Amino acid sequence: MARIFITGSADGLGQMAAALLIRAKHRVVLHARHADRVREALAALPGAEGAACGDLSSLAEMHSVATQVNALGRFDAVIHNAGIGYRERQRIATADGLPHVFAVNTLAPYVLTALIEPPKRLVYVSSGMHRRGDATLSDLEWNMRPWKGAQAYADSKLHDVILAFAIARRWPKVLSNAVEPGWVPTKMGGPDAPGDRKAARAPRRNGKSVRSASETRRRGHTD
Ligand SMILES: NC(=O)c1ccc[n+]([C@@H]2O[C@H](COP(=O)([O-])OP(=O)(O)OC[C@H]3O[C@@H](n4cnc5c(N)ncnc54)[C@H](OP(=O)(O)O)[C@@H]3O)[C@@H](O)[C@H]2O)c1
Repeated sequence: MARIFITGSADGLGQMAAALLIRAKHRVVLHARHADRVREALAALPGAEGAACGDLSSLAEMHSVATQVNALGRFDAVIHNAGIGYRERQRIATADGLPHVFAVNTLAPYVLTALIEPPKRLVYVSSGMHRRGDATLSDLEWNMRPWKGAQAYADSKLHDVILAFAIARRWPKVLSNAVEPGWVPTKMGGPDAPGDRKAARAPRRNGKSVRSASETRRRGHTD
């Protein structure tokens, strides 16, 4: 039985992963953006051990979430799942002056990884769109370029993969994975997505749907 923290688990893939893990008898701590969402998340998954609360678009609340998680003790795994999509039509600035997509999708996993006591396993939920991301890391804050929501999303999902590989290199004892879930009908994926959440099964050992940056690096290739 493992102890797992999942960001953005009031809905969508995070909630689905939490439900599957709870059904498989793991101990799961949820996360939602504010107190009402925390109540909804816990009501939807009464088997959860608890929930952390914080809006991951805010640096102060990223710090607060990390503090709450560390206060709960050590986790076996952290799944960085919370994210927002590519449909923002303009650069939405957060309280810290950062683009919303960058703050939630790139910066929050980075800050939480840095602040939460390292678990045995880290999972970063990326997207197939990471292949279109800009690897130069130039103008991360979208101050110089005209806004393109899809590009900002693709960049952020590439950042998640880069982070997974960087952690695999720097923390060799931690299994660090980046995952592409496919196109799935969630709030973000929309109703036309072909994936079937009901067909999802509990994670298997050595399951093929998970890419391990550590393992990929050891094998010496990526696909
Ligand atoms: N669905 C797809 O087809 C697809 C494809 C590729 C990758 N992904 C990735 O899968 C992950 C999950 O996406 P999903 O499809 O499950 O989307 P979703 O249904 O919209 O769920 C996203 C989750 O993140 C939370 N969240 C968003 N912004 C937040 C913030 N500022 N602070 C705290 N929590 C926040 C949401 O909270 P609320 O419920 O309160 O909004 C929700 O629980 C994302 O990283 C996404 O990039 C999804």
